Amino acid sequence: MSNLDFAPGLRAALTAADFTYDAVVALLGEAGHAALSRNETTPGLRRTTGGSPLETLTRLFLLQAPVSQAAAEAALPGLVERLCAEGLLVQSVGEVAARLDLRPYAAGDQPLWIVSDLTPGLDGAPNRDGTDHVLGISSASTSLAQLTIRRPVGRALDLGTGCGVQALHLAGHARQVVATDVNRRALWITSLNAQLNEAPAIEVREGSFFDPVHGEAFDLIATNPPFVISPATGERLVYRDSGLPGDRVVEHIVRTAPAHLAPGGWCQILANWVIARGTPWDERLTSWLDDSCDAFVVQREVLDPAAYVELWLKDAGRHGADDYPRRYDTWLSWLDEQGVEAVGFGWINLRRRAGSGGTPTVRFDEWPYDVEHPVAPTIAAWGDAVDLLDALPTNEALLASRLVVRPDVQQETVGVPGAADPEAVVLRQQRGLRRARKADTIEAALVGTCDGELTVGQILDAVAQLLDAEPAATRTAYTSVVRELVAEGFLGAE
Ligand SMILES: C[S@@+](CC[C@H](N)C(=O)[O-])C[C@H]1O[C@@H](n2cnc3c(N)ncnc32)[C@H](O)[C@@H]1O
Repeated sequence: MSNLDFAPGLRAALTAADFTYDAVVALLGEAGHAALSRNETTPGLRRTTGGSPLETLTRLFLLQAPVSQAAAEAALPGLVERLCAEGLLVQSVGEVAARLDLRPYAAGDQPLWIVSDLTPGLDGAPNRDGTDHVLGISSASTSLAQLTIRRPVGRALDLGTGCGVQALHLAGHARQVVATDVNRRALWITSLNAQLNEAPAIEVREGSFFDPVHGEAFDLIATNPPFVISPATGERLVYRDSGLPGDRVVEHIVRTAPAHLAPGGWCQILANWVIARGTPWDERLTSWLDDSCDAFVVQREVLDPAAYVELWLKDAGRHGADDYPRRYDTWLSWLDEQGVEAVGFGWINLRRRAGSGGTPTVRFDEWPYDVEHPVAPTIAAWGDAVDLLDALPTNEALLASRLVVRPDVQQETVGVPGAADPEAVVLRQQRGLRRARKADTIEAALVGTCDGELTVGQILDAVAQLLDAEPAATRTAYTSVVRELVAEGFLGAE
């Protein structure tokens, strides 16, 4: 690996040019920025003709337009030769062009710069990636970043780091971050990004899956693995194809991660999984879980095989190619032979149980609805709810507990105008997963009264009395409802 001693100078130049996310968006304008996100550069090029360092850097790295040697020198003083030698830039007669992408990234209150391979397919150019292409920040990268729990931890692992975006996020709240990949170019780029963003906690290691961390445990593992479900034949794009058939890559990670988690540690995986003909999706995933971990799996989307194949062939720039129908047919036949009815996409969250173990809690949700991002606090809160319920194992303990309604829960009533009683009451969360559940009068009254003053048992007795119900039967009937309300984040500890 080359010496990255040019990184501080590059950082200084980017800082001096105010090459920040907000400044670039302001420069391109809303329409120019939106056009670039659709891979169109013309509106942006029209707004970056002034020759300032900010305009030069934006033209070079985001719009992939060559700039004059003089403009490049002004924006990157004393660095052009070196950046050419390192493969970030290339010089031709009097002009300089980018060989890698370099862009500001607004990660919450953590402004970062990210180097990656150039975005393919600008302005309709063919988007054929090299097999060792190092992806920049994709929508999958941001999904995982929003999912990852940001509590302070000791050791974190970014498995399949690519350009290192997850590792950089992790470095914001972990003392040590190990970033692994099989792609050497990815590791070089991650090392550069670590230096550029002054993140010395990141250590890169080459190797497949958990090989580079043999025998080590982590408090947090975040991974956006190469999860595309394909026949594992022919050309392989390492950033999305694991080389393992079907969804074995995800299965392997789910089965292996528990051994690499410290007690209480989380492994958060963005994944695709096979929905096999005749098998409920959650049944197959359950078979991968072991009883050392609690698991919260959320299926966000389901694609039929044809839609799935189209998505990934288009992603690889194959749509319209001569061999597109043949590739489509081969992939589809393979999925059919494998008994794949559909493909699920979503989040797998594993948490290693602390202490002596006990029975793990496993939850599967199909949740295609809009959620509040970052969704990470909701995943962490689910873990807290599991702990709370574990601490209240008997009905007596639950009835003696004092719970509070979460502040974002609202009550909606549905019914014809003017009716004395609503036809239905819905409790709806305004935050996180934004869950909603129908509640009867007792449940609604119970939730409304949970302010931490009275115990659950006292509240149920009072509500039963008010509604002329039998107190003992009400307690028995509603303890499981209370458990659900805690597990789903409507009620919690004070
Ligand atoms: C979808 S990219 C994710 C990149 C980045 N972590 C992100 O969130 O954007 C998957 C990464 O896994 C890497 N990879 C592929 N096969 C691997 C393996 N067997 N072990 C570790 N990493 C692998 C690829 O090189 C690629 O960088």
